[in-house]
Amino acid sequence: MAELSKIAVLGAGHLGPVIARLAIKAGYPVTIAASGDPEDIALITELMIPRAQPRWAAGAVADADIVVLAIPLHRFPDLDPGLLSGKLVIDAMNYWPASDGVVQAFEDGGSSEIVSRRLAGSAVVKALNHIGYHELEDRARPAGAPDRGAVGIAGDDPVAVAATAALADRIGYHPVRLGGLRAGRALQPGGPVFGLVLTRPEFERAVREEAKQAVREEILREQAMGEKALREEARSLS
Ligand SMILES: NC(=O)c1ccc[n+]([C@@H]2O[C@H](COP(=O)([O-])OP(=O)(O)OC[C@H]3O[C@@H](n4cnc5c(N)ncnc54)[C@H](OP(=O)(O)O)[C@@H]3O)[C@@H](O)[C@H]2O)c1
Repeated sequence: MAELSKIAVLGAGHLGPVIARLAIKAGYPVTIAASGDPEDIALITELMIPRAQPRWAAGAVADADIVVLAIPLHRFPDLDPGLLSGKLVIDAMNYWPASDGVVQAFEDGGSSEIVSRRLAGSAVVKALNHIGYHELEDRARPAGAPDRGAVGIAGDDPVAVAATAALADRIGYHPVRLGGLRAGRALQPGGPVFGLVLTRPEFERAVREEAKQAVREEILREQAMGEKALREEARSLS
């Protein structure tokens, strides 16, 4: 069997350990780091994520093929983009104003697009962000299980997307490719699948419905703008 990618999970709070546990169960070598000394997470790692290696973030990333960002978005600016250069980075973070504070750039668009612009030397994929950490672990199912859930994946680099899809599949989810990073907005808080574990057909339906609704709203907006322009033209001629 081909050797599996080495995974570094940055973040040892709620989400990080769950992703680490699932990845270890799937056979991946996993390191995990918080923001500081690995000694601080050594005991909890031994108890909660046996077989994961606690490391300093820089050491974990240096050895990894895939880096999962499971840190609060407001802590993301502390990360040195150079550290992540050349890596496949899975952005599992969400913009959560209650804890991240209001950041206008995130209010207006896709958080992973902003993350990706800062990590210009990395291949960023948005995934593993739309399911709560409890459910992510409890609802993981092997291929073929009728109630297997779907994980949405969005990214601009096809190789990185394929590797992320393979990871999602191995840890117990149907990978559903949504398109480029921009399409990952559907996975964010407020999006149609956020906070839900849906089967693949349910997931695809929810995303399609949302996309149709967005098109409807765009058409209505353009119509309203066109009508306004016509009214103004008529007024200027009268
Ligand atoms: N909780 C969920 O169910 C869930 C589900 C999907 C997505 N998410 C997203 O995942 C992210 C993490 O959520 P969480 O609930 O797991 O947060 P959390 O419980 O607050 O844990 C945050 C972890 O990130 C670590 N960290 C902060 N800055 C770091 C850095 N520069 N390098 C390495 N580690 C760093 C912290 O380490 P220190 O203790 O050393 O500061 C802590 O271990 C958020 O963006 C959240 O929106 C969460």
